[in-house]
Amino acid sequence: MKISKILDVLKVPENYNEVYSPSNDSYLFLDFIDTSEFKMIFFEWLAERIQHSKRNFISVLDMGCGSGILGYVLILKLLDLILESINSEMPNFQTIILDYIDINEKAINLARELVRQNEQLLADHFAKFMENKKKISVQVNFFVSNLFKSHNVRLTYPYDYVIFNPPYLPSEPAIINENNRKIIDYAWDGGDDSGNAIILDFFSNLDDKINKHSQIFFISSSHAQLDVLVKSLEEMGYLIELKQSIHIFFEDIMLFQAKKPSSSL
Ligand SMILES: C[S@@+](CC[C@H](N)C(=O)[O-])C[C@H]1O[C@@H](n2cnc3c(N)ncnc32)[C@H](O)[C@@H]1O
Repeated sequence: MKISKILDVLKVPENYNEVYSPSNDSYLFLDFIDTSEFKMIFFEWLAERIQHSKRNFISVLDMGCGSGILGYVLILKLLDLILESINSEMPNFQTIILDYIDINEKAINLARELVRQNEQLLADHFAKFMENKKKISVQVNFFVSNLFKSHNVRLTYPYDYVIFNPPYLPSEPAIINENNRKIIDYAWDGGDDSGNAIILDFFSNLDDKINKHSQIFFISSSHAQLDVLVKSLEEMGYLIELKQSIHIFFEDIMLFQAKKPSSSL
């Protein structure tokens, strides 16, 4: 199903004052997973998975999930692509596991609500699997956590797919300090004056949760110090590729893919 059709029917609960509503950066990722390029990425990843792993599940991380839209729509897309390849020599995937993490408890509540309100979309996909005499399930886990730091996070990795649309705007310490910070500020405040602190903190703690086949996507913007970001990630051993961008007013918003070929997992 085209992503535009999914978005026509997807119910996205909103809480404008406290949780980030899907915006241009969110749609940049959702547009990308509808492209032939993403399809190719999926089939290349599938070929690698068949060769290197016998795991019968796919695991997905949506970091900073906000409303939960990115992870949920990605799961629906993966189900479509698995269905397309169902007659090929593919592993018998029995489950897709989606881990949602957000620092904002209200966001996790909203993501839970999004999953609840859209059960029918998953049920429609499961029915198509049954028509092909296959069965698959989806398990969704919800964690309130500052990146991976909470002791309560029980994650399922190495992740096959990772998406993070982080806060990436340079901090405005004159406006926000820890005394007047509102929970919605976490949605845009990149943590320092480069706008890169949160995304770099994330990548510094990702190593043991991915393998060399993991497909990692993240978003940033021309308002952040992008050259510094890319250089720092390359120094950590990541290969970074710009996949898609949009120009809105005075900003370029960009979707990147990161890969870690040297990963030992
Ligand atoms: C730009 S919003 C993206 C929301 C959603 N993924 C989307 O694309 O519509 C960034 C999200 O990251 C969350 N976030 C910010 N800092 C975080 C941290 N340290 N750990 C986990 N989540 C964080 C925010 O609460 C917010 O929901």
